[in-house]
Amino acid sequence: MHLKSKDLLGIEQLSSEEINLILDTATTMKQVLSQPTKKTSHLQGKSIVNLFFENSTRTRMSFEMAAKYMGASSVNISSSGSSVQKGETLLDTAVTIDMMATDFLVMRHRESGAAEFLAKRVKASVINAGDGMHEHPTQALLDVFTMRDKLGHLDKLKVAIIGDCLHSRVFRSNLLALTKLGSEVWVSGPASLMPLDVERTGAHYTRHVEEAIQDADVVMGLRIQLERIAKGLFPSVNEYFRFYGLDEKKIKLAKKHALVMHPGPANRGVEINSALYASDQSVISEQVTNGVAVRMAVLYLLSLRRNIYERENI
Ligand code: CP
Repeated sequence: MHLKSKDLLGIEQLSSEEINLILDTATTMKQVLSQPTKKTSHLQGKSIVNLFFENSTRTRMSFEMAAKYMGASSVNISSSGSSVQKGETLLDTAVTIDMMATDFLVMRHRESGAAEFLAKRVKASVINAGDGMHEHPTQALLDVFTMRDKLGHLDKLKVAIIGDCLHSRVFRSNLLALTKLGSEVWVSGPASLMPLDVERTGAHYTRHVEEAIQDADVVMGLRIQLERIAKGLFPSVNEYFRFYGLDEKKIKLAKKHALVMHPGPANRGVEINSALYASDQSVISEQVTNGVAVRMAVLYLLSLRRNIYERENI
């Protein structure tokens, strides 16, 4: 079995079989990461360009490290250091990168649909590293990988996602991945930070954060997307923490060994307090490690797909 598309644009386009293929491959990649010599030759001779128009630490670094561990050449470009600052269009920038025999174009962009727009116009495999409020597929893949790794399965888990669902591409991609894999998603947060049609997305919505967390297997806090939020959508960060911030008291409602997750970067004392962040239940650091393994798996599987694509010229 191989991935159907040359690109990874969102969880929406992946079947449950493809998601499981990525998770199984990431398990092998995680073993590679635990070796003293982390080098493999899976991507020898391949080139990766990380094109980031929004800030990132985890996603950009983990793609770069994944590329290096598998023998590929990687280059980082941010909007501030590129010809975008001189007025070059996104498409002209991408076509220029494509003309340098680039195999993978990993892109983060503030506009929803930006990755899909480019994927149709370049030969490189486009990987969506976050497009506006739309999707962040590799984040959801590393999140479900972490859940499966720690809990052993993803069948009928109760996953509570708390916070700014409206602006969150992490929420959208996780909801799609978890429902495709047979888990149940509960959401809670300020009504002003919930999509209007949240119940039509397949998630259970409750105004009461305690109801969402009650007996959950996993509790995930979301970052407040201050860069995308209009002023006045919630009263203050102190109020926010009191009602929706994750702490030891709220987490006691979940199952005894429930996992505490956050995609990062976290605003401590707003979405989660420092004690819970550092607690035994928190897998936030493991999410970061697993992010490298999952991105190695995605690059590897897309390179296999590219080999077929090039051989058959389709
Ligand atoms: N979770 C996430 O996307 O983090 P970065 O913004 O640091 O990449």
